[in-house]
Amino acid sequence: MASPIISPSLLAADFGNLQRDCQMVNESEADWFHIDVMDGVFVPNISYGMPVVKTMADNCDKVMDVHLMIVQPERYIQTFKDCGADILTVHYEACTHLHRTIQEIHNAGMKAGVALNPHTPVSVLEDIVQDLDEVLLMSVNPGFGGQKFIENTIKKTAQARELVDKNGSKAIIEIDGGVNLETGARLVAAGADALVAGSFVFKSEDPKATISALKQL
Ligand code: DX5
Ligand code: ZN
Repeated sequence: MASPIISPSLLAADFGNLQRDCQMVNESEADWFHIDVMDGVFVPNISYGMPVVKTMADNCDKVMDVHLMIVQPERYIQTFKDCGADILTVHYEACTHLHRTIQEIHNAGMKAGVALNPHTPVSVLEDIVQDLDEVLLMSVNPGFGGQKFIENTIKKTAQARELVDKNGSKAIIEIDGGVNLETGARLVAAGADALVAGSFVFKSEDPKATISALKQL
């Protein structure tokens, strides 16, 4: 089996040393940068906005995997393209006209992902999965780093794998929240293609070695 795509979440970076932390990820075996945008409405926390995302993109030389935890994400599609996003992921729970939003992300020249909260069943993607480049399963309630992994995500990962394969979709299955070597190994075994890891990478003694270890799962 191919090694998983590793997407370190900069939410856990040291914002006083953002360039240094971006450089660390650039030099590591990570594949993507995971960028968490929160609006304080869709989730009970505010992270960072466009100028910070642009600064990250300017300092990051890998794929920019931008996860929007905001209401009405369709209002900001071109803005995030201009900030340097390569993959733009919106929440199923935040989109009334999800199909149109996905089309607009594609028309803006980005890959499109849909994220599901822990309580949202994978089956809601049945009629959109063919159009997606990424399915992002939240394994914690979105809003904060450093939370405990929700076990039910293992079952959902297997369901997502089945849905993607059954429909011949090219979507990458990415899991976000509480990922470490132990949960990561079980997620990969259940069919995950990509793992987001924030605290586990940035709070470790040797973040580059931690990324290598995740890459070897
Ligand atoms: C949570 C964010 C995650 C977060 C993961 O709302 O979407 O990307 O940074 O953090 P850890 O890996 O610490 O659970
Ligand atoms: Zn995220």
